Amino acid sequence: MSIHQDIEQVLYTEEELRRRVKELGRQITADYAGREPMLVSVLRGSYIFMADLTRAISLDVTVDFMAVSSYGAGTVSSGQVEIKKDLSDSIEGKDLIVVEDILDSGNTLYYMMDVLRARQPASIRICTLMDKPERRTKPITADYVGFTIPDAFIVGYGLDYAEKYRNLPYVGVLKPSVYDHK
Ligand code: PRP
Repeated sequence: MSIHQDIEQVLYTEEELRRRVKELGRQITADYAGREPMLVSVLRGSYIFMADLTRAISLDVTVDFMAVSSYGAGTVSSGQVEIKKDLSDSIEGKDLIVVEDILDSGNTLYYMMDVLRARQPASIRICTLMDKPERRTKPITADYVGFTIPDAFIVGYGLDYAEKYRNLPYVGVLKPSVYDHK
């Protein structure tokens, strides 16, 4: 059995992801020149993007991690967001960049932005690798977007289905037969 056989179509190859993440890193490096941004990764989906993005930024940065959960094992957001793991450090007075793998309904970030703003950072921007604007139900937009994508169920490069496929080096569309049978 191979994880690759459940993929209908490769949406972004390893090379395309690498190139786009480098561009985002260059853009953030230019925008934050002279500052020391704190990158906050929203686990678990963003862990691979975070690792590559931070290495594409040539500034002093700090990193911290937060885990929230809203999806359970299904493909549709339940709308319930819960903090599973909070940040380790204070964000007061920091220039935050929230790093996400995907912005879908906007529910997760809508909630997180409220929580983070209350802690009084100097600024907050959102950097998402993937954006699915047609699915949005909350007024959230990202400041940095890797790719604007259609409404397909995608996995790989950190994104999962039922906690699997995160380790695919590319982003692919999952065969509907994989989740229709569950
Ligand atoms: C995914 C993703 C975002 C969120 C986006 O996380 O990482 O955090 O969903 O969807 P939304 O805009 O509709 O809120 P998920 O809950 O699947 O957890 P994971 O990061 O552990 O995969």
